[in-house]
Amino acid sequence: MARFGASMLDDIEEELFSREQLQEIVARIGREISEDYKDKRLLLVSVLKGSVVFMADLMRAITIPAQIDFMATSSYGSGTTTSGRVKIVKDLDIDLKGYDIVLVEDILDSGRTLSHLMELLEMRGAASLKICTLFDKPERRQVPVQPAYVGAVIPDAFIVGYGLDYDERYRNLPFVGILKPSIYA
Ligand code: IMP
Ligand code: MG
Repeated sequence: MARFGASMLDDIEEELFSREQLQEIVARIGREISEDYKDKRLLLVSVLKGSVVFMADLMRAITIPAQIDFMATSSYGSGTTTSGRVKIVKDLDIDLKGYDIVLVEDILDSGRTLSHLMELLEMRGAASLKICTLFDKPERRQVPVQPAYVGAVIPDAFIVGYGLDYDERYRNLPFVGILKPSIYA
């Protein structure tokens, strides 16, 4: 249960990425996307809610014209895993036809969420469609998904902060840390 008034920091085992390290990662991906999409019609699609902090920083690290849109999914997962049955809770506002889409995600784990989303978006006539994920846990992959941009590859641990949650908490931590297993055990 959320302990009102308790510090979020008490629940963090160790810091994995500081604010500064996150900013370096985002700046690097921003440069890559700005270069790769300079002659394209870039639309950044953020998958809510986990990628919202990353998206806010990434869009400002991109120096070419870019449009943004948001979609939200729910996956009926238990605490720390996804079930794979992805439901669209909020769809995009923009018609994707002719856009070069970069799908912005917080973390790629089993791959179920993103493979389902890719399938769905591929049918909508975008000019191109690529994945940008802040974190990747390749050890955990169950469905093949190839991200074009990866912030950092991380080991199999449950992380929170900088948009990532456990049970909707810790999204507002400004750094990324490993959650103490006792919180979800
Ligand atoms: P996948 O469908 O298993 O690849 O799961 C992707 C989604 O699971 C992400 O968008 C997150 O919402 C959640 N997730 C997976 N690993 C973590 C983690 O370590 N911390 C927080 N959320 C995670
Ligand atoms: Mg989540």
